[in-house]
Amino acid sequence: MEYMTLNNGIACPVVGIGTFMLSPRDAENSVREALNMGYRLIDTANAYVNERAVGRGMKASGAPREEIFLSTKLWPSEYENPNAVEETLQRLGVDYVDLLYIHQPAGNWLAGYRQLEKAYREGKAKAIGISNFEGKYLAELESKWEIVPQFMQAEAHPYFPQTELRRTLDKYGIRLMSWYPLGHGDKSLIQEPVFGALGEKYGKSPAQIILRWHTQMGFAVIPGSKNVDHIRDNLDILDFALTPDEMAQIAALDKNKRYYHRTDEQLLQFAAWRPGFEKA
Ligand SMILES: NC(=O)c1ccc[n+]([C@@H]2O[C@H](COP(=O)([O-])OP(=O)(O)OC[C@H]3O[C@@H](n4cnc5c(N)ncnc54)[C@H](OP(=O)(O)O)[C@@H]3O)[C@@H](O)[C@H]2O)c1
Repeated sequence: MEYMTLNNGIACPVVGIGTFMLSPRDAENSVREALNMGYRLIDTANAYVNERAVGRGMKASGAPREEIFLSTKLWPSEYENPNAVEETLQRLGVDYVDLLYIHQPAGNWLAGYRQLEKAYREGKAKAIGISNFEGKYLAELESKWEIVPQFMQAEAHPYFPQTELRRTLDKYGIRLMSWYPLGHGDKSLIQEPVFGALGEKYGKSPAQIILRWHTQMGFAVIPGSKNVDHIRDNLDILDFALTPDEMAQIAALDKNKRYYHRTDEQLLQFAAWRPGFEKA
């Protein structure tokens, strides 16, 4: 495994597994298999409604808790719930998480951020992060945070490498964790000829080339999968390195194109929605 050092000195694996849109059953399987293969970074969220399943997958793998970098996210409905962090830990079956995000700049997000800071001070979150806080939201938070976050989680891939956002993150040493790293499985991204050609050269699949690009950009990457072969492949990216010229070829794919466009209307819906958490 390769690790990156965060702005508070702790280490985070550069590649992990994401669990968005995985049913509890799939999330438990994917997490258990991934940990057994050597993954040490897992990303979930209150909103994925699979935190209990992720906890079961962690236990079933037998991987030591202290080796696992576990990341989850508070949903806006939880920002003003004083027990949100404790309830999140209980669902996961752990007494701390390695990384705790606020998921969206919706509702009373500053109250959510204050909960992260409190959890950090109490050792219940070893690192904290913001997710989808691009533009004016990050600008506002910059004047209000008491603790600088360690991560921003945002959409990033070769079509949208987050060039502008990274200028602000770099000022604070905040790391980017890419979501939709494979374009959410979009064939046109994966089938770009440059990934096929580089895959031939290195004996890797196009998806593996894309994931290696993320890590060489300095991003942490959490591809989602319920396919054991993909899960295995997605970890097998650390035994080769793209050259500066190859990184430049991939940089030329930047289309400033997001897959996901969030509206203000959606932020209101996010604030009103409450996840129907799994029963114990
Ligand atoms: N903070 C946020 O708001 C936010 C939003 C979205 C996602 N996320 C996080 O980011 C993670 C990644 O995003 P994502 O899962 O939506 O998108 P993604 O990782 O870009 O793509 C996942 C898709 O790619 C396929 N795939 C995975 N590995 C592959 C491989 N080696 N070759 C070919 N296809 C492959 C998967 O199908 P198979 O199952 O068949 O492998 C799945 O359909 C999420 O799981 C979640 O943890 C966060």
